[in-house]
Amino acid sequence: MIVGVIGYGVVGTATCEVLKRLGHTVLVKDTDPVRIERAYSRGCGALNQDVEPESVFICVPEGNVREALASAPCSPITVLRSTVPPGTTERLSAETGRPLVFLPETLREATPIWDAMSPPFMLIGCQDKELGGIVAEIFAPLMVPYALVPSTIAEMVKLALNAHFHTLISFWNEIHLICELIGVPSHVVGVLCSLDPRVSTYGARMHGDPAGGTCLPKDLRQLIAFAEDKGYAPMLLKSVQRINEIVRWEGEEARNGHRSPTELRDLQAAGLIPTRDSEIGLA
Ligand SMILES: NC(=O)c1ccc[n+]([C@@H]2O[C@H](COP(=O)([O-])OP(=O)(O)OC[C@H]3O[C@@H](n4cnc5c(N)ncnc54)[C@H](O)[C@@H]3O)[C@@H](O)[C@H]2O)c1
Repeated sequence: MIVGVIGYGVVGTATCEVLKRLGHTVLVKDTDPVRIERAYSRGCGALNQDVEPESVFICVPEGNVREALASAPCSPITVLRSTVPPGTTERLSAETGRPLVFLPETLREATPIWDAMSPPFMLIGCQDKELGGIVAEIFAPLMVPYALVPSTIAEMVKLALNAHFHTLISFWNEIHLICELIGVPSHVVGVLCSLDPRVSTYGARMHGDPAGGTCLPKDLRQLIAFAEDKGYAPMLLKSVQRINEIVRWEGEEARNGHRSPTELRDLQAAGLIPTRDSEIGLA
């Protein structure tokens, strides 16, 4: 199959590698000439309006999806891999008249190709079962369980998953802040807690730094903005964000001023430096 990929960043590169390894001819388009050269050096061809691929994968930042869609050559199937707010795929399908499928990516930035080759599951978000079935066929050799669901559900799952991971990190960071006050190693607490099968190891074993990367804080902001737009102010998710800011601020202070978090709190209690809440505009 001839497949087009628009956007050769983290997700686009991993998508290209998977598709090439599954035996497809992959043509790439990117606005960045350096990335395009990289794609060519790795065996991808050029995607332009002269070719009509059988499917096109959009892997650009969410703010650029419309523009990427407008520049995409005609093809029977267009697959969105960008993390978009719930309802976007359905709305863009109606607006553009292009049959769109939402296929969220769950890779980690440290191991993108490995993760893209062996995802725990695949969610194919699509109103049209036949179209979803064709996308499932493309990835069938990976032997990964998949679910065919309406695109709005798949979009919500992607945001809920990242909000869940962010919440776990912030939960353990809050436990870490409390542990520091009494000189207890929070990582030992986390490891021991995760011996209980009801507790996830995610965040329990590794915490102490704010949730970072390109996705977790961004996707949490997107989910909060989406909820607020619908008239609901999410209390837990906003606290998760707030804890992350506090941990980030303390880390920066500790690095810049060579102060430990305990010293920071002593100085704040003595009124010698601003409290973290006033400093980061939360007070
Ligand atoms: N990075 C991750 O771990 C990850 C995981 C899952 C989902 N996502 C989502 O996937 C999307 C892409 O993320 P990424 O990390 O691959 O981004 P990235 O910044 O690494 O790559 C995006 C690429 O798209 C190109 N681009 C931008 N606008 C374009 C346009 N109009 N036409 C052609 N090319 C264009 C850029 O030059 C860049 O090479 C985002 O919505 C992100 O949230 C990312």
